[in-house]
Amino acid sequence: MIKRKSLLSLLVSLLLNLVLCVNVNTATQNFISRGVDIDRSNIPKNILFGSFSGGRGHVKPMLGIAEILIERGYNIILLSSENKEISSEYPTVKQISLGPKFGLKDIGIEVTNEVLDHKKLVKLLELGAKSYKGSYEKYKSVAEEYNIDLFFCDLLINEACVDAAHTLKKPVVGFTSGLQLMDPKPYKSDPMFGCNISLENESILERFRCNFIQPLRFIYSIYSVMNQLSDIRKQMNIEPGRIVFGRSSEASLILVDTFFGFELPQTLPPYVQEIGPILSEKYPSLTPELSVFMNKHERVLYVAFGTRFSATTDNNSKLLQSFIEAINKKIVDGIIWALVETSKENFYPTLNLSDGTQVQTSPILNNEHPHIHITKFAPQFTVLNHTNTKLFFSHGGAGSSHESLYTGTPMLVLPFAGDQIGNAQKLVTAGVATSLSISDLDVDDILNKMDSLLKDKNVKENSERMKVLTKINSKRKYRAADLIEYVLHASSFVDVNDDFLKEWYPAENRMGFIRAYDLDIYIILLSIVLSVIGVIVVKSIKLFRSFISSPSDDQKSKRE
Ligand SMILES: *[C@@H]1O[C@H](CO)[C@@H](O)[C@H](O)[C@H]1NC(C)=O
Ligand SMILES: *[C@@H]1O[C@H](CO)[C@@H](O)[C@H](O)[C@H]1NC(C)=O
Ligand SMILES: *[C@@H]1O[C@H](CO)[C@@H](O)[C@H](O)[C@H]1NC(C)=O
Ligand SMILES: *[C@@H]1O[C@H](CO)[C@@H](O)[C@H](O)[C@H]1NC(C)=O
Ligand SMILES: *[C@@H]1O[C@H](CO)[C@@H](O)[C@H](O)[C@H]1NC(C)=O
Repeated sequence: MIKRKSLLSLLVSLLLNLVLCVNVNTATQNFISRGVDIDRSNIPKNILFGSFSGGRGHVKPMLGIAEILIERGYNIILLSSENKEISSEYPTVKQISLGPKFGLKDIGIEVTNEVLDHKKLVKLLELGAKSYKGSYEKYKSVAEEYNIDLFFCDLLINEACVDAAHTLKKPVVGFTSGLQLMDPKPYKSDPMFGCNISLENESILERFRCNFIQPLRFIYSIYSVMNQLSDIRKQMNIEPGRIVFGRSSEASLILVDTFFGFELPQTLPPYVQEIGPILSEKYPSLTPELSVFMNKHERVLYVAFGTRFSATTDNNSKLLQSFIEAINKKIVDGIIWALVETSKENFYPTLNLSDGTQVQTSPILNNEHPHIHITKFAPQFTVLNHTNTKLFFSHGGAGSSHESLYTGTPMLVLPFAGDQIGNAQKLVTAGVATSLSISDLDVDDILNKMDSLLKDKNVKENSERMKVLTKINSKRKYRAADLIEYVLHASSFVDVNDDFLKEWYPAENRMGFIRAYDLDIYIILLSIVLSVIGVIVVKSIKLFRSFISSPSDDQKSKRE
């Protein structure tokens, strides 16, 4: 009894001591904050954001960074092709038009039926070359008028932005969502160049094709456009800026709106930094109609192919048929289809289901089907974020892929153009998606893929895993803003033509390929090895000869 008591009191006193000690410690120690924020009083403040395409996928993430910079006291001017939707969404950003918004159709690219390969990229480049003069002059005059201190240039066909900055001796930060052209690696490629995203397990012939033949064909096809552009530059007496495809030589920073996990991993030079995925802080809420629909259905398939989507009547009808059958077979219990540009004429009036029954399409398109909701507008992120959304049927645009990964929604991907085919492969590689091909859509195939995506435990686990990675990385837009601030800050100390951002440029850029990779040493080593082998070979031949010839010598001497 006594023992127990004393043990208890000992424990109590020990605990008390511990608490007291802690108290005493905190009472005597003063903590002062480290002061993490930088002094902005002397950092130049005017930034020009430039995007030639003006497309939502380019401008919206850039403006995600702009919002942060505005909050930190910077003045942002957006110079891009007109985009009314964007200007109403970001009223605090001053916007100046670079020209009317252009669709791919305006330049003779029919997205409907074909995949955007590098031939069409050439058409885009031609458009860029045609508008170069106007764009350059606009960039330059706006920059002068508003005393711009830094150019933040979307790198898609936007040489004018980089060149104007170069002429005015202002720093440039480049922006892109594709890593492929910024830092090419021999083990990676893209369907845009007719190859798989990864060449890891391809044959030597395929790697030869993807690393030499395809790039040569690409360079050959853009050669005349590039010549056109350099002629225009010569006429206008403009020295081109320094952000180029592939290895950039000096004085720039490139921010890439992607992240490893979605993008295949690779090494990067310090002046190319991934800062994606950039997502907005706020999204519109569900419309009352959608909210009612979503809460009534527990396993919703959300379908959206982006604003530019329009497929053939045959393909559209197949998609609709597979949605009806997915409901009938209880693969999902509700479908939301965000259909922007497609109308009734794009569907057959009746569909023949695989069980032999016929269905009229027009009541469905008029939203009379209790489980299929067709809408012109859907707040995509909010729909994906809803617990009842179980699957996303998408075209695989970068923005949509990021949102789907962020919300942990598995994807069925039907890519149409540009980077979408590569994105589809990346999502499949990440284990969160299955892909379809527009050239052979099949209802049964679609249904099987939906079913297995919903049932596969691996897909669920991968989606959960990727969700956390995406969320963590979505904070890096603040780092993007930090980096832009640093470039501005540095520009008030170092001239942009003189060792600017040297702290991020590895010596290999200055040493040249041969010295940077020790190729000269390997050549010396190889010649040493070869000479040693040579000496040995010569010696052994001599030895061998003397072996063969010595008996005959003996015979000769005997004869003599
Ligand atoms: C669907 O569209 C693709 C691309 O336009 C086309 O090649 C294919 O034939 C279409 N499928 C059908 C069944 O019409
Ligand atoms: C890409 O890889 C897949 C198998 O992983 C193969 O079936 C396909 O032919 C490849 N595509 C190209 C363009 O090499
Ligand atoms: C290539 O093959 C290896 C070994 O089988 C595998 O671990 C890797 O994931 C494959 N890579 C790709 C891109 O398929
Ligand atoms: C459905 O079947 C009817 C005849 O059975 C045919 O006339 C119609 O073209 C078919 N519709 C489609 C979309 O194949
Ligand atoms: C997304 O979901 C989270 C958690 O369910 C919620 O807190 C957040 O408000 C949602 N956001 C949107 C835009 O729906």
